[in-house]
Amino acid sequence: MNQPSVLFVCLGNICRSPLAEAALRAEAIAAGLAVSIDSAGTGGWHAGSPPDSRAIAEAERHGIDISHYRARQVRVEDFKLFGQIYALDQQNLRDLRRIEPKGLLGRSISRVGLLMDLVPGREGTAVIDPYGGTAEDFAQAWADVSAAARVLVSRML
Ligand code: 4NP
Repeated sequence: MNQPSVLFVCLGNICRSPLAEAALRAEAIAAGLAVSIDSAGTGGWHAGSPPDSRAIAEAERHGIDISHYRARQVRVEDFKLFGQIYALDQQNLRDLRRIEPKGLLGRSISRVGLLMDLVPGREGTAVIDPYGGTAEDFAQAWADVSAAARVLVSRML
């Protein structure tokens, strides 16, 4: 069986999606699962940059070093490379659906979804962008993405 592959996509790839990447990496390792995991931004302004210092600090609070992560913009090839692609909010989802290659009859051939749809009781909600916010907003983003990461891993077991 192919190794599962998951891509997380937010706007800048410096706050929420790197935290989602880190959370799933940690959950997958804890469960002994081999998973290909990456993150990207719909925008490219921060390409090549490390995560926001507050995202690095939040991951560090959970014992995870993400300071070596580097932002990149999502690419059309990602829709072929990743079996599951999760948008962190509805705008990211709309942007992904706009650029994703269409299959026969215009149907999507990828598996693009809203991340919080995975979490019972949180369907249809966003991981709120903490970029203009506080450390508490980054802690909330971590709580959200780690809840989703636990669901993802439970589905892979
Ligand atoms: P992210 O947060 O999408 O969670 O990485 C943001 C980072 C940067 C910007 C917006 C959101 N920005 O406008 O530069």
